[in-house]
Amino acid sequence: MNLKQLVGIEAATYVKDGMTVGLGTGSTAYYMVEEIGRRVKEEGLQITGVTTSNATQEQALALGIPLKSIDEVTHVDLTIDGADEISANFQGIKGGGAALLFEKIVATYSDKVIWIVDESKMVEHLGAFPLPVEVIPYGSDQLMRKFNEKGLNPVLRTNEQGDIVKTDSQNYIIDLKLGKIKNPTELAHYLTNQVGVVEHGLFLDMVNTVIIGRTEGVETLNP
Ligand code: A5P
Repeated sequence: MNLKQLVGIEAATYVKDGMTVGLGTGSTAYYMVEEIGRRVKEEGLQITGVTTSNATQEQALALGIPLKSIDEVTHVDLTIDGADEISANFQGIKGGGAALLFEKIVATYSDKVIWIVDESKMVEHLGAFPLPVEVIPYGSDQLMRKFNEKGLNPVLRTNEQGDIVKTDSQNYIIDLKLGKIKNPTELAHYLTNQVGVVEHGLFLDMVNTVIIGRTEGVETLNP
């Protein structure tokens, strides 16, 4: 079993009958969704899922997990999601899979948030992983210019064919190659205030439990 699978299966044990569960996106969350699907089918687990991307929605539907949209539920009991980087003080970067907007919305309305990662995602300071920023296409060149002038090293995300990546909301992603983010709160504030920025991948003070897959086994931390 690989480390992503290990933490995915572990996180699924936190899901109980009657819960509304936010289902994250990415290669780690994939295993958690598979395990919840297995429990629904084999154990009769009764939950309502709220997905964070079209990809997770497709997966969950194929597994027979009952779903509602975020606007059809009063709240979410628990959201389980992956992360691209988690710092020593439990701040995170997300959006490597371009799903940061829905992920942040679902996490915001969740009573509890669990991140599942393999040990490679645990870092001292955020920033080695490029920070994804979701922007409206209209005016995105202007934002690129502005970010450049500010020394944020922006790169418009493209796929292997060289086409501009579009999010589930048909927006673009600008990745900021920062190396080290000295003040995540200040940067989050700056990005939130730029016209045309829809959301950024800094997830600050959002996580309750981190489940880390290490070669020695699973480590669970509660910040
Ligand atoms: C999706 O946009 C991301 O926030 C993912 O949750 C994150 O990129 C982690 O993905 P992996 O588990 O595939 O590394």
